[in-house]
Amino acid sequence: QVYGETPSAKPEIHFRVTSTDEHALNGAAVRKQVTVFFSKDETGPRMHLLVYSPSKSRARVPVFLGLNFSGNETVNADPGIDLPEIWIKGQKTKAEEKARGSSAQQWQVEKIISRGFALATVYCGDIEPDFAGGMEFGVRKLFLQPGQTKSADGQWGTLGAWAWGLSRAADYLETDRSIDSKKIILIGHSRLGKATLWSAAQDARFRVVISNESGVGGASLYRAATGETIEHLNTAFPHWFCVNFHQYTGHPDRVPVDGNLLLALIAPRPLYVASADQDHTSDPPAEFLSSVEASKVYELLGKRGLGTDKMPPLNQPIMTGTVAYHVRDGKHDVTAFDWDQYLAFAKLQLR
Ligand code: GCU
Repeated sequence: QVYGETPSAKPEIHFRVTSTDEHALNGAAVRKQVTVFFSKDETGPRMHLLVYSPSKSRARVPVFLGLNFSGNETVNADPGIDLPEIWIKGQKTKAEEKARGSSAQQWQVEKIISRGFALATVYCGDIEPDFAGGMEFGVRKLFLQPGQTKSADGQWGTLGAWAWGLSRAADYLETDRSIDSKKIILIGHSRLGKATLWSAAQDARFRVVISNESGVGGASLYRAATGETIEHLNTAFPHWFCVNFHQYTGHPDRVPVDGNLLLALIAPRPLYVASADQDHTSDPPAEFLSSVEASKVYELLGKRGLGTDKMPPLNQPIMTGTVAYHVRDGKHDVTAFDWDQYLAFAKLQLR
């Protein structure tokens, strides 16, 4: 009814490490680039995983895994990142040099490495490009019946496809000897935060889960009806959810589930929900309320949830239980402040 059904059949995926540099980021990191092929046919859909791990570490390290919006080359100015093909206005285009590091602020790679964590990231458009009609160019196509061109009512949408891609990244990480694959911390911002939560709900290998301003369709509540509307989601992004979800336009009260239940599906694994006060689309009070409600399930399972139903002041994280929350000042973004909290939470939870 919401994201649609994820197919259970697993295609024959395989991996190829295409480059390894032991001296990336001025010697601080090992950079690996890995192609994950989603079928035997290497010309079919595939994704490119970029993995940095601390070069000093002899032991396997915990890893942050997250999808990126605009291409792997945007996460750091590192000239060794392969320039990928990206999607601009529905066209596949070679990324430009000048895009290197354009989202570096949102990724904080050096900081992650210096704290002893690895980072793995994938461009979401590799799994499926983000436009109506993108199914033609992504993994969902592999699961269509012969002759089928449109999704059936309950079949997965793009968010479901992205969520699935994260699980395929975990398949690779389980084979990488520099990574402690029992300690994968899944992180996602905004639409990719929605996909992250849905992925974590389905795949228990994700040990810690971070929702950065995932908003409505993610941690937030349809029923709060004070942030983004279902109508907006379904008209601006008709491909994200399944066809069935379109019947809820104008009827948030009729959706059979809500964000709190999505979060509860992650219990009892550690969960961090974060908002930004100017991000009205995501509706911070609803993201908070949803975390409070999900905490009840954590408590049922013997964990401490958020431990309060009072929204904290700006920039004051609540991190005393298995569910953490903060609302920082500022706009819809991922900042160094956000990462400081996530790194601290991951460290606490993975002790
Ligand atoms: C839009 C969309 C949100 C989404 C956001 C993003 O604002 O309406 O649902 O979270 O884009 O992905 O940045």
